[in-house]
Amino acid sequence: MQYATITGWGKCVPPATLTNDDLATFIETSDEWIKTRTGISQRHISHVNTSELASVAAKRALAAAGIEGSELDMIIMATATPDTLVPNIASTVQANIGASCAAFDINAACSGFLYGLGLASSQIRSGQSRKVLVIGAERLSFYLDWSRRETAVLFGDGAGAVVVEASDIEGGVLGYELHNDPDGREFLKTGFGTAMDRFEASSLDFYLQFDGQEIFKRAIHGMNNLSTKVLEKCAIDKDDVDLVIPHQANERIIDTLVSRMKVPKEKAFVNIANYGNTSAATIPIAICDALEKGVIKPNQTILSCAFGAGLTSAALLLKWGERVTPIAVSDAELPPCEMTGIELVKRAVDYFTNKQ
Ligand SMILES: CC(C)(COP(=O)(O)OP(=O)(O)OC[C@H]1O[C@@H](n2cnc3c(N)ncnc32)[C@H](O)[C@@H]1OP(=O)(O)O)[C@@H](O)C(=O)NCCC(=O)NCCS
Repeated sequence: MQYATITGWGKCVPPATLTNDDLATFIETSDEWIKTRTGISQRHISHVNTSELASVAAKRALAAAGIEGSELDMIIMATATPDTLVPNIASTVQANIGASCAAFDINAACSGFLYGLGLASSQIRSGQSRKVLVIGAERLSFYLDWSRRETAVLFGDGAGAVVVEASDIEGGVLGYELHNDPDGREFLKTGFGTAMDRFEASSLDFYLQFDGQEIFKRAIHGMNNLSTKVLEKCAIDKDDVDLVIPHQANERIIDTLVSRMKVPKEKAFVNIANYGNTSAATIPIAICDALEKGVIKPNQTILSCAFGAGLTSAALLLKWGERVTPIAVSDAELPPCEMTGIELVKRAVDYFTNKQ
């Protein structure tokens, strides 16, 4: 029997930040409103494309696992913000890390990383693959209408990656549950895609549209439901979960979720203050931060759950291994950024505010 164990992890967050006070210089909002309603203090704005964020995160994850890109059997890239739709950007990462293997993108929105990790574990447990790289990477700043305060304050850019390897030692991914509720497709969407009229200039006015309150309710229900299912499936009591790493969309969603699940708040890892919602990247970034802070300890049982456009939901249970430190550290870095967060979004802010 082969188990699918996380052996490497890496994140890449672009250096420029946009604070709540920065946002308040061009939309009617305040640090106080954003912090109390969402838990967010700042978000990062990328000066490079999604695949570059993903490639640096991937190189760091490979180094942490102590393996080369050439050893991989598969790259699964979870993103809703690829720099190109064709070719997929898993192939761009593949070229950047010198891999020779299967590579593809999946779009399950904010649940994408857990969808990818679940699929990777099944590949490994079936014996089809031995080493799989799973990445969650997003450049959500691309989709935002910066004159709409209800969405402009929520999202950020970033990437995280894990290496999953076959192991004889019992543990790793214990089980997962994936779901989609198509009735909620209209609650969260962008107008970007082949449904656009290519020859109409206004087609370029696409932006992230959503019904925040509806998603808020459905997110709690979806994550609670699948978390309960995966715990039952793995015959693990919720009290035996050491750590919950939830999707970071809103701290109040996390608070309500853990209180419904009757899990103590201290068991939930929350890092939304620094990044906002980076969609498919929130969970791998949180895994990296939890390891850096010493929150993940050897042999812990970890529950992770997510929710996103589709409306997708996912929950995954895993038993961490012995090692909580990287085998090696990569020197991969993004190109330097000379601009501030406000400077990076200025063109988009001017475009959307002048349209009003
Ligand atoms: C978006 C979200 C933070 C809004 O919080 P909320 O408590 O539901 O707030 P409401 O939408 O009820 O708005 C309350 C008031 O604040 C105002 N408001 C909205 N955004 C604001 C902002 N950024 N700054 C200041 N005020 C704001 C509203 O206009 C409203 O004013 P009104 O009472 O005068 O009409 C919350 O619904 C949410 O997090 N939803 C889910 C997040 C999500 O969809 N993530 C992506 C998928 S994973």
